[in-house]
Parts: sequence; C-alpha cells; structure tokens
Amino acid sequence: MAIPSNMTAERVLSVHHWNDTLFSFTCTRDEGLRFINGQFVMIGLEVNGKPLMRAYSVASANYTEYLEFFSIKVQDGPLTSRLQHLKEGDTVLISRKPTGTLVQDNLLPGKNLYLLSTGTGLAPFMSIIQDPEVYERYDKVILTHGVRYKNELAYEDFITRELPDNEFFGDIVREKLIYYPTVTREPFQNQGRLTDLITSGKLCADIGLPQMCPENDRVLICGSPAMLDDLCHILDGMGYVESPRMGEPGHYAIERAFVEK
Ligand code: A2P
Repeated sequence: MAIPSNMTAERVLSVHHWNDTLFSFTCTRDEGLRFINGQFVMIGLEVNGKPLMRAYSVASANYTEYLEFFSIKVQDGPLTSRLQHLKEGDTVLISRKPTGTLVQDNLLPGKNLYLLSTGTGLAPFMSIIQDPEVYERYDKVILTHGVRYKNELAYEDFITRELPDNEFFGDIVREKLIYYPTVTREPFQNQGRLTDLITSGKLCADIGLPQMCPENDRVLICGSPAMLDDLCHILDGMGYVESPRMGEPGHYAIERAFVEK
C-alpha cells in the first residue's frame, strides 16, 4: 500500500503491557509533526490494503523525539484487536494533523488546573503534566485518574517517581503536581467516582485545596461519554462555562477518551 499523503509510516520502538486490558507503545515521530500537549492524532494500521485509523491522544510531550500512545485492548475491536499485538519494529500509520480541545488556549487564566480523567482518558494529561509551561501558569496542577481496579493505574510510577525527578523541571513538579488516583471496584486509598468525589467535596478536602469554583479553578476532562456528561452537568451547575470548540476560552474543556467499541 502506498502511504496516503495525509499520514506518515512510523516504526514501533517499544511496547508495554500494563495488564490484560491496557497497553502503551512508542514509535518514531516524523520531523514535520508539531502538536500542542493535550492534542490527538489519528493512528492506525494497514488492514486489507487500506489504512484503518482511530483517534488517539498523544501521551508524550511535544518536545520528545518519539510519540507515545496509551490504549485499551478490545478483543473484537477492528483496530485494537490488532494494535495490541504490535512488536518493536512494526509499522504504524500516524496522521499529519494533530487537533483537539484539551489545550491551554481554550482556558481562561486561573489559579489551579484540574485534569479529570477516567480509563485511557489519562493519555492527553500525561502529555500536559510533562509541559513545564503548564506549571508556570498555575499554582497547582491536580491530576486525577479514576479506574475500576488498581492494576489499571497506568503510569503511576512515572507520575509519582520519574517526573518529580526530572532533571529540568522536577522541582516545579514536586511543588505543584498533585496526583489523585481513585479506584471504584476494590479497596484503595482513594475510592469512588470522580463525580461523587467532587460533589461531596471529598476530592478537594483530601488534597487540601479550597472547593472548586469557576473564579479560581480551570478544568480539563477526558473520559467516557457518560463521565463527560455527568461532569459537565456538575460543573455547569457550579457556574462553569465550557470552552466552545472554536472561539472563546472558558473555564473548562472536554474531550472524549477515544475508546473503540
Ligand atoms: P464504576 O466502577 O463505578 O463504573 P470505565 O472503564 O467504565 O470507563 O470506568 C472507568 C472508571 O470511571 C471507573 O472507576 C468507573 O466507575 C468510572 N465511571 C464510569 N462512569 C462514570 C461516570 N458517569 N462518572 C464518573 N465516573 C464514571
């Protein structure tokens, strides 16, 4: 198959399986590919002589030489049933045009930034928490990750150990990044859905910050459609205004975690 002009063929550099349902991989990055931390691209494979592409948030930072993606494994999913078998040296297709709403320009200035994610919705925030400029904009950056089971807390080690040790901006990460993982279906230090943890006030109480308000706190959200609906409803009720897709910045912005059915 000739590579269509709107995509590039890249080589898989590494694959990491977190558990039976989640994996990450890295691949080479075309020199011409520029993106803003938090954006997504289309990625895929050649299947029956044609590109089969799905949207994936880039999990690596825009200054990193390679690209990283975080994916679910769906046994009968057209793409992920294949993607989960990727091996080092395999070829993946990457679109040339990154896009997405989870970018700083969509947000009004604020004091704190809440990154609310469930499942693979963590991916764009992995990129954002590696962006030193984000820490310059906010007093605190709060990264939440809601999952069913503990073994779905991908990147926990990177977030809690590697990033605070980063030689260039580890000190600002230690000062400003608050990681709040929560588990719903087995015992854990933090339990419950993010929606309940916000409405009850427990999230802010646990991290020692004042309750969220549109005057001070900006929010980016990435998760399942139901999670997005529920959180939008809660934030709207608190007086938050969503950033429109094009145009004015707002108090919060959302993106669907691109889970293939
Ligand atoms: P729960 O175990 O109570 O369903 P999923 O894998 O289904 O996307 O879920 C990932 C995490 O998101 C789980 O902890 C799940 O909780 C939670 N979750 C599912 N739906 C919602 C929702 N509408 N609002 C907030 N959290 C949700």
